[in-house]
Amino acid sequence: MRLNNPSELESLRRSIQSRKHPDKPCITVCSGTGCIASGAEKVTAAFRSELEKRGAGGKVDVLATGCHGFCERGPIVVLRPSDIFYQSVKPENVPDIVERTVLGGQIIEELLYADPITGQKITHEHDVPFYARQSRIILGMNGHLDPTSIEDYIGLGGYGALAKALTAMTPEQVIDTVKRAGLRGRGGAGFPAGVKWETTRRSPGDLKYVVCNGDEGDPGAYMNRSVLEGNPHSVLEGFIIGAFAIGAREGFFYVRAEYPLAVKNITLAAEKARELGLLGKNILGSGYDFDVTIIKGAGAFVCGEETALMASIEGRRGMPRPRPPFPSVSGIWGRPTNINNVETWANVPLIINNGVEWFQKIGSATSKGTKVFSLVGKINNTGLVEVPMGTTLDTIVNVIGGGIPGGKKLKAVQCGGPSGGCIPARHAEVPVDYEGLKQYGAMMGSGGMVVMDEDTCMVDVADYFLRFTELESCGKCPPCRIGTKKMRGLLKKITEGNGEEADIDRLEKLAITIQKGSLCALGGTVPNPVLTTLRYFRDEYTAHIRDKRCPARVCKALIWYEIDPKTCIGCQLCAKKCPAQAITGEKKKAHVIDRQKCIRCGVCAQVCPKKSVDRRTREATGGA
Ligand SMILES: Cc1cc2nc3c(=O)[nH]c(=O)nc-3n(C[C@H](O)[C@H](O)[C@H](O)COP(=O)(O)O)c2cc1C
Ligand code: FES
Repeated sequence: MRLNNPSELESLRRSIQSRKHPDKPCITVCSGTGCIASGAEKVTAAFRSELEKRGAGGKVDVLATGCHGFCERGPIVVLRPSDIFYQSVKPENVPDIVERTVLGGQIIEELLYADPITGQKITHEHDVPFYARQSRIILGMNGHLDPTSIEDYIGLGGYGALAKALTAMTPEQVIDTVKRAGLRGRGGAGFPAGVKWETTRRSPGDLKYVVCNGDEGDPGAYMNRSVLEGNPHSVLEGFIIGAFAIGAREGFFYVRAEYPLAVKNITLAAEKARELGLLGKNILGSGYDFDVTIIKGAGAFVCGEETALMASIEGRRGMPRPRPPFPSVSGIWGRPTNINNVETWANVPLIINNGVEWFQKIGSATSKGTKVFSLVGKINNTGLVEVPMGTTLDTIVNVIGGGIPGGKKLKAVQCGGPSGGCIPARHAEVPVDYEGLKQYGAMMGSGGMVVMDEDTCMVDVADYFLRFTELESCGKCPPCRIGTKKMRGLLKKITEGNGEEADIDRLEKLAITIQKGSLCALGGTVPNPVLTTLRYFRDEYTAHIRDKRCPARVCKALIWYEIDPKTCIGCQLCAKKCPAQAITGEKKKAHVIDRQKCIRCGVCAQVCPKKSVDRRTREATGGA
């Protein structure tokens, strides 16, 4: 079937909706990568066979959806329309769910989410604190549709914005709408999308390209993956609208090969859209032609940088080049090229459908709309969080994220990926938007948030992130290639207890040189973890250097383990598990650790039933 005009799209939508009864029970099983890893496919299969077995196959739908965001609790099952939320569901729970909840209307307490602080059980998805304070305009549809079905998307109003843009708006009006809405790029820098579109449109030349940047190389970040996997048509629709506004006839989705489900779903989405005449020649009978190619990236962090990404698309080694010329003037094969992030494109249909004022009402004064964050680290609720920009870090971590496990204290949050900055707990009231984070030396990046508790050593953290960027530096420019190595050398010296007072000054000088002298924003932002930890946690650097102590008791060279002879029961478990045979002692008598042999792996502390093993560092002498 081919849709020849917007009326035919509207008729199809009505016919899809008329076939769906709003009260028909539907079991949605999250089938995002996270839930698949914890067994979602077996859960879906179990539901289908259980319903068949009971002759209820036609009365209840089973829907394998995209990521619901609360991946840590997967596999997640939500029963609609009641919204009953079950977590960590296993295939063996399925007969019970069908018998007691789907057919019997009862709630199974054991499968409900329990608030980590109050222990209170919560029945409905929208009441789970993780979801209750979010505004899920980008992720919201993920839990309501099968990402492989274009009918599901159209049934929910999908491609209506495209029809409107192509037939009721000029390209200039589309650009003006996106500009007035204040949509800023979600891939890092927050550049106004409409301004970039306008520049590309005005650049001379008939041949122009658009690119969707789905490289997402930040460790721990998976916001873009989740949208491409769970609602690929929303990105594709925004992409086609943008291409129309810019005047491009060809576009590229650049998605890393490590995202096989995202690649599969966006490829399938493009095929289905092409079949229906929503992509390809004469889209919806408008006379506008546009098509896309899906490109798999090989997984280098630097290939997310726009000029390196374009080199990769052209078949060259993915290395950045100086700008100007900017891609909007000279991009792929020298043609004007507009690159936007997955989440930026996914916002476009929402703006066209709901209008400028609607969008402007969400977010802060300078940053409109929502932002999806990937909340990971020492946090109770790990997952994807979508909030209006300007929401405080405290709300994200302590309310939505449910605070820090084990009653520990929040120490800092690393915002903006490996080259972002660490914001200390005392500034947790910062509104999270482009300007708010910058003020504290961090950045929005594409939305990575790593939470750290009191047991985290901030010098070690700076070293950890620098290790990543050192490895991912493409090597083209010396400040980044050599500077990251030199900085790591200094950090190693400090964490190993060999630091000198002058090393802090050396680190700061190197950081400024790398920032100013690097070719691309990788080098430009690499020093951020070092600079922010020096700014907020300088006393920890001083403690490592002056006192040769690690206050968080993390750096191996500065700690040792001791067994408390008063509480040790001589069970010998530590001695048996120690990989270095560093522990001796008779049965039922206190044991001793040989510090020369000990490799500080901490296994003894983990296995001791009496918690008699202590991790020690030197006493403070005033350094920290
Ligand atoms: C090292 C490096 C990695 C980047 N990785 C990504 C990425 O994975 N995804 C992304 O959209 N932008 C990434 N960017 C930013 C892009 O260069 C570019 O600004 C962005 O794709 C533009 O889209 P936006 O305006 O919608 O944010 C990266 C930049 C640098 C310097
Ligand atoms: S993959 Fe299921 S909640 Fe994210």
